Amino acid sequence: MKITYHGHSTFMIELSRKKLLIDPFISANPILTDKSLDRFDPELILVSHGHSDHVADVESIAKANDALVISNYEITTWFGEKGLKGHPLNHGGKMSLDELTIKYVNAIHTSSLPDGSNGGNPGGFVVWDHSACFYFAGDTALTMDMKLIPMTCPKLDVAILPIGDNFTMGYEDAAIAAEFIECDRIIGCHYDTFGYIEIDKNAALEAFRKKGKELILLEIGNSIEI
Ligand code: NI
Ligand code: MN
Repeated sequence: MKITYHGHSTFMIELSRKKLLIDPFISANPILTDKSLDRFDPELILVSHGHSDHVADVESIAKANDALVISNYEITTWFGEKGLKGHPLNHGGKMSLDELTIKYVNAIHTSSLPDGSNGGNPGGFVVWDHSACFYFAGDTALTMDMKLIPMTCPKLDVAILPIGDNFTMGYEDAAIAAEFIECDRIIGCHYDTFGYIEIDKNAALEAFRKKGKELILLEIGNSIEI
């Protein structure tokens, strides 16, 4: 599994010979120098919830690549009206696509779409094949529901958790989330994009280290193989 960070909560994941783009927010991300979209060629686009910092570039990238949008029913319907292919999920449900299994799991947050439409309830994803399993939490508070993930999904190799506080859990709660999901390797996201979510990165690293967990803060554009 190869994971590439594109800032904020945007990740490109290569797993099972598929490219999955998650929560594309490129063209309006204030801290990105390269805002071009033509470098993205996903087969699947996973959307955690309806907020503009997660859906901003879904339509452009999906249309350019004939990509399948996977999200909750309200969000796939909203993109369906714009001509995008979608596969609707709801919380606790999973789908199979060739070797891949994609499960939509609970998040505590909100999910209005950019035009004010109802974006359903927000979620995260657990995705796996025979070789690897990851959890992308989306925007969420720390929640006891995270304890269900190790009970219902394969052992996580890595989890992508928000750590920026203010709109999501901060790194202190995210370190507890790492315990709840029984995962030792965490990639942080949803921090430093704008003022409300700027963090002390050394303090974040230390919060995880104290719990025996590894926090990985990828440079934008960098990848990790897991
Ligand atoms: Ni949000
Ligand atoms: Mn957000």
